[in-house]
Amino acid sequence: MDIFRARRDRLIDAMMAAGGGIAVIPTAPERERNGGNFFPYRADSQFFYLCGFCEPQAVLVIQADESPRQILFCRAKNEAQEIWTGHRHGPNAAAERFCFDAAYPIEELDKKLPGLLANQPALWTSLAADSEWDRRVLGAIREARSTARAENAAPSAVREISAVLDEMRLIKDESELATMCRAAEITAAAHCRAMRATRPNRFEYEIEAELLHAFRAAGSQFPAYPSIVASGPNACVLHYVDNDRQMLNGELLLIDAGCELDGYAADITRTFPVNGRFSGPQRDLYQLVLTANLAAQSKVRPGNDCNAPHEAAVAVLTQGFIDLGLLKGATQDLIETESYRRFYMHRTSHWLGLDVHDAGSYKIRGAWRPFVPGMTLTIEPGCYIRPTDDVPEAFWNIGIRIEDDALVTPDGCEILTGGAPREIEEIEEMMQGQDG
Ligand code: GLY
Ligand code: MN
Ligand code: MN
Repeated sequence: MDIFRARRDRLIDAMMAAGGGIAVIPTAPERERNGGNFFPYRADSQFFYLCGFCEPQAVLVIQADESPRQILFCRAKNEAQEIWTGHRHGPNAAAERFCFDAAYPIEELDKKLPGLLANQPALWTSLAADSEWDRRVLGAIREARSTARAENAAPSAVREISAVLDEMRLIKDESELATMCRAAEITAAAHCRAMRATRPNRFEYEIEAELLHAFRAAGSQFPAYPSIVASGPNACVLHYVDNDRQMLNGELLLIDAGCELDGYAADITRTFPVNGRFSGPQRDLYQLVLTANLAAQSKVRPGNDCNAPHEAAVAVLTQGFIDLGLLKGATQDLIETESYRRFYMHRTSHWLGLDVHDAGSYKIRGAWRPFVPGMTLTIEPGCYIRPTDDVPEAFWNIGIRIEDDALVTPDGCEILTGGAPREIEEIEEMMQGQDG
């Protein structure tokens, strides 16, 4: 059975259980960068999850009623255009290859939509994500209403498709896990390459180039997000992406970079000394963040709620900040008042999958949701110390994050990113083999 068709079947079941209706799910629009040049195209994650179809200008329609139908609207064949922009399946070949019940040229969508909406109790779609799409959907409803006869009612509800799709996407199937493991492996190898290429006086962008080379040479289509290659003080800028500074002897380099493979993201951060050897204060803080990472990891298992890793990381980090003279007070008070946020201001985990910050809620009716086997998430504690008078100067400008990707298993979790070293001795050993 085609995995994408099987997912659409499951979506139909979930929609039927919630009253049925018709789902209309567009892929991502193409975006012009300038003067007829376009940003590299990437399909919408929801659409891709259900279709596996990567061409732009496509819309999935799913009819969830007593006679369910799965319909694709896509670009028609056009040999003249294909000379310029490459192969298009066209509706006939796409229907066969991607297991749809029917397929039509995309130009027919607006004409056919009001008829497809007729007598459906609800229209399910993505709301408020793209104003152009919102306008189009409302137009179709208006049209369906205006042509409604007594026997031909327009949908009386518009419903958010993410409510059912995000729950499906949260638990990865075998095919997704195989791709994610490979994305993690490629990314770990890229981080190793970056470690070996780093030395004093090189520029951050030279190391970024090593990462990009490793990603693409292994078959990844894109970086999953802009790579952060942050040396010295730049490591304390959480979303630093300029990557244009010269790295100096004695500094740390923080790299947060992951590849996207066949739609799926990896997300790894490693922090290591530019000269291959941790100084005393760097070592102390690094070991603290590593201990927080391991404490968080130990909480990723079914039965625990998904905030447990964050609580574990915060407890370790807060105690460490006190022990190192960065914070003063009682551990529990500093946790309750969130005083640790001065040095650790982000959360410890996010879901990972087609999106680097993947679909799926973290709470259900206000309570943290429990871990379930098949969920995938990051574990990424850190500490970021900006220069201020009340902090020992030895710690100024140290930014450290250690980020791994984990799969929840029946009795704990599996770390997918172990190929990138994170113990101090392992890192120093790998950097002994610095290139050149
Ligand atoms: N690289 C994005 C993140 O760590 O969340
Ligand atoms: Mn992350
Ligand atoms: Mn990251």
